[in-house]
Amino acid sequence: MSNDLIARYSKPVPRYTSYPTAPHFHDGIDDNAYRDWLSELSADTALSLYVHVPFCDRLCWFCGCNTKQVLRYDPIAAYLPAVHREMETVAGELGGRGRTVALHFGGGSPSMLAPADLIALGDRIRALFHIDPAFEFSIEIDPNDMTPDRYDGFARAGVTRISVGLQDFDPKVQQAINRLQSFEQTRDVVEGMRARGVTSANLDILYGLPFQTVDTVERTVDQALSMRPDRIALFGYAHVPWMKTHQKMIDETALPSAGERLDQSQAAATRILAAGYRQIGIDHFALPADHLAVAAADGTLRRNFQGYTTDDAPALLGFGASSIGNLPQGYVQNVTATAEYIRRIEATGLAIARGIAFTGDDRQRGYVIERLMCDFHAPFAALRRRFGAAAEPLIAELRAYAFADSDQLVELTPSGLTITERGKPFVRAIAANFDAYLARGTARHSIAV
Ligand SMILES: C[S@@+](CC[C@H](N)C(=O)[O-])C[C@H]1O[C@@H](n2cnc3c(N)ncnc32)[C@H](O)[C@@H]1O
Ligand code: SF4
Repeated sequence: MSNDLIARYSKPVPRYTSYPTAPHFHDGIDDNAYRDWLSELSADTALSLYVHVPFCDRLCWFCGCNTKQVLRYDPIAAYLPAVHREMETVAGELGGRGRTVALHFGGGSPSMLAPADLIALGDRIRALFHIDPAFEFSIEIDPNDMTPDRYDGFARAGVTRISVGLQDFDPKVQQAINRLQSFEQTRDVVEGMRARGVTSANLDILYGLPFQTVDTVERTVDQALSMRPDRIALFGYAHVPWMKTHQKMIDETALPSAGERLDQSQAAATRILAAGYRQIGIDHFALPADHLAVAAADGTLRRNFQGYTTDDAPALLGFGASSIGNLPQGYVQNVTATAEYIRRIEATGLAIARGIAFTGDDRQRGYVIERLMCDFHAPFAALRRRFGAAAEPLIAELRAYAFADSDQLVELTPSGLTITERGKPFVRAIAANFDAYLARGTARHSIAV
């Protein structure tokens, strides 16, 4: 691939885990809007619940998540009653409507939760919401947190899926990102939780970190594959020190170039595919029998704030500081600072700080961007089916983009606009062409490959 092509299409763009993207949320959406939107959900709406735990006992210098380091458990103990209270408020607004199909604990490091606290949260959710028989309970785990009591405790809470942060096993890379974690420690978590009934294990691997080379990434990938995870997320390190000041601890001179990042991601992907995994969208892989691979094959893959998912619940309800909800009417987001979150919840039961109500144009563009990110394809017939004649201007825009593309990144096929193999690494940059907010925005994003 030419350096010129990489340079032109590696410009910083959003990761498109939502559309409109979070920088375009505004404070015109508040608790009252959220209450209204909840009251409009129908009785059998599938609900997906997300609980954000914004705490870690260490701070990895690469981290882009919404979290803070705590050296004692007290701040977590002070936070959890607010999460319970927020759940009670939302359940009260729903008045028994909705059936819960999924529950995900993310962070930060929800694996810091004391087992009794995770069990109590799980029990509260079962008491407050109708639980669907197909209910899945997933949690993100930092292996560093896994004390012996957490294995049985998390299993007792009902965890069925785990997502384990692996990042990189090379000692020099680990030093440079302040994330020391052995292979054995990581393997013990995967095996230990599987032995306790977890049916799906994901591993997060990063490329583009300081001192990583194709060789070190390949070695890490081989060690990861030896655990035979059901899924692998292969993320490019997003270096955004203007937003995450601790990333200033990362030595920028040791960061791989855009071309090296591409080589690392392709080398990792080649090895993972050779081990029998299917590629899912831009950065996930799954064993062929895994639900994610099945969804990718039949065109039902979705993308939300947690990345690629099979979760097609029309309402994602977020709990905890900074968490984002996605309802049929729009997005809502809680306040970010934990102290402010607790104060707001104690006062009114909710803590919405911002959000956005979808326009007709947002829905169309959001659909196109999600399908490009999931299938590398924007289907014209589905656009017309969903949006009728109103879809014609966007279809014309997609066609015009394909005609103007002299880099063979996309092609027009009878069913729509398809991203070519050459264009796939640049899907975010291609999707950005259909983002109506990008031109007027001032938000800065991470490099696109
Ligand atoms: C909330 S963390 C995972 C759970 C746990 N805290 C851990 O680190 O093991 C979610 C994942 O986001 C990814 N991540 C964090 N910061 C990132 C960044 N700056 N760029 C790309 N991926 C990042 C990491 O792979 C990490 O495992
Ligand atoms: S990568 Fe995970 S453990 Fe490290 S600081 Fe971020 S959320 Fe915490």
